[in-house]
Amino acid sequence: MALFQRLLLLSLLLPLSAAAADSIAQYCSKSFKSKQTQANIDHVLADLVASASVGGFATASSGKGASGIYGLAQCRGDVSAEDCSTCLADAAKKLPTTACPSQADGRIWYDYCFMRYDNENFVGQSDTSVATILYNVENATDPQNFDKKVGVVMRRARADAVAPGNNALGRAKLQFTPYITIYALAQCTRDLQQLTCAQCLSSAVEMFPDYCQHRKGCRVLYSSCMVRYEIYPFYFPLDSTKTTAAVGTYYKATLHP
Ligand SMILES: *[C@@H]1O[C@H](CO)[C@@H](O)[C@H](O)[C@H]1NC(C)=O
Repeated sequence: MALFQRLLLLSLLLPLSAAAADSIAQYCSKSFKSKQTQANIDHVLADLVASASVGGFATASSGKGASGIYGLAQCRGDVSAEDCSTCLADAAKKLPTTACPSQADGRIWYDYCFMRYDNENFVGQSDTSVATILYNVENATDPQNFDKKVGVVMRRARADAVAPGNNALGRAKLQFTPYITIYALAQCTRDLQQLTCAQCLSSAVEMFPDYCQHRKGCRVLYSSCMVRYEIYPFYFPLDSTKTTAAVGTYYKATLHP
């Protein structure tokens, strides 16, 4: 729980209707001045867009020593190739310019993708140092029971994410009432081993009691994994038995070192 001592809480309301296109969060650190570092960032980003647009995941590196840059890009495993490449192109454009100009550690989160670079090699390591949490301003009815069922469906999604052959993506749903279905998604970056992925996801759901209790929907975004649940279909293929209603309003909390 040491993380909470470094808490920075931004209570802001997101107009979630635009969520698929706008970035959700960004994190930047390590200011630099070197032209070589910038050149390596540009090179890594171009590489990431080209290769991750094909398979939905890529790592890249450019340069050595003090100016060397490592990068990772990943789309949520359920989004289409077209949505994926659009998201990656947006991320690569925004990250080094408006999001994190002249920063050697830059990370950006979208609904459909995540992109990151750093001057240290982070690939294969779980990073839970930076968290963004979005939680619905509204609470569920029958909240104790609801939270219990969120735990059940989230365990299924997590188990699915660490099962071999699933590209670190887990999806599950559970009928809460005849009218309410809970949808859950768990995703790790694909550079993680299964055990490391499981640990990251478990750390993410440990945030639930502090931020997501009773909430109709909630997500925890780390740099190495994410978990999310909602009472409307949000992952693909969309549940055609339900209509996607208005998604509501969310508070955003950001935690970082
Ligand atoms: C929702 O539940 C949380 C956790 O119990 C509580 O702190 C909050 O005030 C509730 N919000 C509403 C809108 O009822």
